[in-house]
Amino acid sequence: SKKIIIAIDGPAGSGKSTAAKNLARKLNFTYLDTGAMYRAITYCALQRGIADDYDAVVEMTRNLDLKLRFENGVTRVFVNGEEITDKIRTAEVNSKVSEISAIPGVREEMVKLQRAIGKDCNLIAEGRDIATVVFPDADVKIYLTASLDERARRRFKEYQEGSVNISFDDVKANLAKRDEIDSGRDVAPLKKAEDALEIDNTGLTPDDDLELLIKKIEAAL
Ligand code: C5P
Repeated sequence: SKKIIIAIDGPAGSGKSTAAKNLARKLNFTYLDTGAMYRAITYCALQRGIADDYDAVVEMTRNLDLKLRFENGVTRVFVNGEEITDKIRTAEVNSKVSEISAIPGVREEMVKLQRAIGKDCNLIAEGRDIATVVFPDADVKIYLTASLDERARRRFKEYQEGSVNISFDDVKANLAKRDEIDSGRDVAPLKKAEDALEIDNTGLTPDDDLELLIKKIEAAL
């Protein structure tokens, strides 16, 4: 039978991951966190000390065995068999990931992998270029946004809950910087696909957000 693909794009902290995870569980779809893939490449490049040598980063990316396993609400990430799940969400990765993600050769490899994952399952994929580049024929396209302040508050709260010591202003500055780089790059910039449905979830709880999304998705399918 034909497989369904739901694409969710939007800026950092817009609630894409939470919404996509909730939807995947509700609809029994496979969940794909493409940001985790770019984070994994960034972490590996930093660890090998090659993050400023873009040719070396592309070469590394081509030879890396990158695997994602979604388990109990968490995307577990493995490179060459080693688990790096907890290592890809640090301040160091946050400050470098948008630069690494702008390298065309890196995106080429990630898009190949993402399409292979979507080949034979019902999929909810979230990222920046899912509806525009990775799955332009997706059955449902959603562009999720919220105000910068709201997004920074959400991310800051996550850090506090995880006992990560970072100031609100630093969180907000990193989000703004990443959005700027992600929207401004030449290859696959963050933007709303023409045929995507834009939802601003500023002020909505995750539950309200989910309810709204389910209504919209049911109407679209
Ligand atoms: O979604 P998340 O915030 O974890 O993504 C981290 C970074 O990965 C983004 O800021 C962006 O630079 C990059 N990314 C991307 N394309 C995607 C998903 C993420 O360039 N489809």
